[in-house]
Amino acid sequence: MVMRTKKFGIIGCGLMGKEFASAALRWCHLKDEITKPEIVAVCDTNPAAFEWFDKAVSGLKYHFTDYHELLTCEEVEAVYCAVPHVMHQQVYSDIINAGKHLMGEKPFGMDKAQNDAILEALKNHPEVFCRCASEFPFFPACQRVIAWVKEGRLGQIIEVKAGFNHASDLNPDKPINWKRKNSVNGIYGCMGDLGLHTQHVPFALGWKPKSVYAVLSDIVKERPDGKGGTSVCDTWDNATMLCRVEHMEGYEFPMTLETKRIEPGATDQWYLKINGTKASVYFTSEDPDAFHYLYAEGAIQSWCRVLVGYRSMIPTITGENFEFGFSDAILQMWAAYMAELEGRELDFGCVKPQHTHMSHALITAALESYEQQKAIEIAY
Ligand SMILES: NC(=O)c1ccc[n+]([C@@H]2O[C@H](COP(=O)([O-])OP(=O)(O)OC[C@H]3O[C@@H](n4cnc5c(N)ncnc54)[C@H](O)[C@@H]3O)[C@@H](O)[C@H]2O)c1
Repeated sequence: MVMRTKKFGIIGCGLMGKEFASAALRWCHLKDEITKPEIVAVCDTNPAAFEWFDKAVSGLKYHFTDYHELLTCEEVEAVYCAVPHVMHQQVYSDIINAGKHLMGEKPFGMDKAQNDAILEALKNHPEVFCRCASEFPFFPACQRVIAWVKEGRLGQIIEVKAGFNHASDLNPDKPINWKRKNSVNGIYGCMGDLGLHTQHVPFALGWKPKSVYAVLSDIVKERPDGKGGTSVCDTWDNATMLCRVEHMEGYEFPMTLETKRIEPGATDQWYLKINGTKASVYFTSEDPDAFHYLYAEGAIQSWCRVLVGYRSMIPTITGENFEFGFSDAILQMWAAYMAELEGRELDFGCVKPQHTHMSHALITAALESYEQQKAIEIAY
């Protein structure tokens, strides 16, 4: 039987562009029959970025250094766009206006005004299927956290804590890159670069923050520029947001979201902990196979650790007793995107455009909160 395909172009052939290509090339890993993304075109302003794709992707037909040319290529039906934040509004809007399906990257617009403009373009093109990338919730152990909440096993939600932390910026000798410059990364700093990752699951579960109190830190003010000099590093390094969240059942609970570039020891620490009156659940990428849960049984409380194995949301050829990793999560995320694109309904999917709107409203309020040193009601 011939596998159904959708022809893709990639705009931005850096770190994440390659991750997508690698996932597309492993489509045979999936057991379910889901339309396969077939990469036919790549675009990057730096032609040196094509070398890896030329070696890896057979069937690659088109190379562009101007993304407008990729958008006029009729063969291209969908686009993965992974470019620096300063480009999001222009490029995402142009992709949508060209009628191509879009998988965008966070923060999905450098600031709220840019996000509004992208969502306006989407409103004018209902035929375009659009999602934003966020892969960590697709770890099977995190899927179990989500399932327990959806099954109502937790009782009343007491508190939620989610975070995405790194540590490499603790090294003052680490050279600057575009994510450390407000002019290209955006004024959200670490909240724009890391924030949506922490918000994906809470927003998908319908938890909408009403207000936020934020504490932001700019710890490193300059970095080596990689050419023997130094460069200003003006982005927020660390952020902690304390949110008041309204539950659909009419009560409130606190939610702490932390996004840190400087959390000593954290290589790539993504976590989600949800406490409830009947049970509590926890997942961290530092223990990627483990689903942690706690049942409150009278006076006895103890955390249990279950090694979930490779029981992925979308079945694959990998045996259930093996381990799951980052590139597996990327493949699951893309499988979810393609499944939804072909009209399948999933229990859990990629970040929806309306959730990027919530993210921008929240982070914009967090900036205001830190400036005014008070909690801010979030305007959606
Ligand atoms: N989902 C994730 O886990 C994850 C991880 C890292 C980055 N990201 C996001 O992915 C996006 C890209 O980040 P990255 O780490 O891949 O960056 P990167 O710097 O590795 O790659 C970006 C690429 O875009 C190219 N580029 C710049 N301007 C362009 C233009 N006008 N047209 C075409 N190409 C252009 C650059 O030359 C570069 O090759 C960002 O939005 C970032 O926040 C997501």
